[in-house]
Amino acid sequence: MRHLILGAALALLLPLSAQAQEAGDAAAGEKAFAPCKACHAFGKNGVGPDLKGVVGRKAGAHEGYNYSAALKGSGITWDEANLKEWLKDPKAKVPGNKMVYPGLKDDKKLADVIAYLGTQK
Ligand code: HEC
Repeated sequence: MRHLILGAALALLLPLSAQAQEAGDAAAGEKAFAPCKACHAFGKNGVGPDLKGVVGRKAGAHEGYNYSAALKGSGITWDEANLKEWLKDPKAKVPGNKMVYPGLKDDKKLADVIAYLGTQK
């Protein structure tokens, strides 16, 4: 009986934890965001554009920031999938953009950073 209950509990918990991982961990994402802080802040433009509310925003659309023509004309909206491609390899996603960042190759950190961005509304 004990085993049955334990088994049922595990069966319930496992898919939940798998989902949590896929969606990214915002707290871990805050740490993974550290290198981005050299250029980005929330609430003001710096070397890079203000990232407050960036999830769901049109690319190259934040007021007062001087974007590259490439990003401005990209037609991208920053949903999770586009952010993933962009942050993994900015040059490949938008050739000619001016974000000097080689890309975040670790999928877990990538998901975490995007989850963190989603909390900055
Ligand atoms: C060396 C400076 C630098 C670093 C480091 C950097 N960025 Fe950027 N980022 C920029 C610049 C500059 C742009 C604008 C690019 C353009 O106009 O072509 C930009 C654009 C962006 C955009 C698009 C914003 C918009 O309004 O369309 C996102 C999202 C973004 N960066 C996220 C990040 C994240 C997350 C990291 C860390 C993993 C990061 N960046 C690291 C400089 C940087």
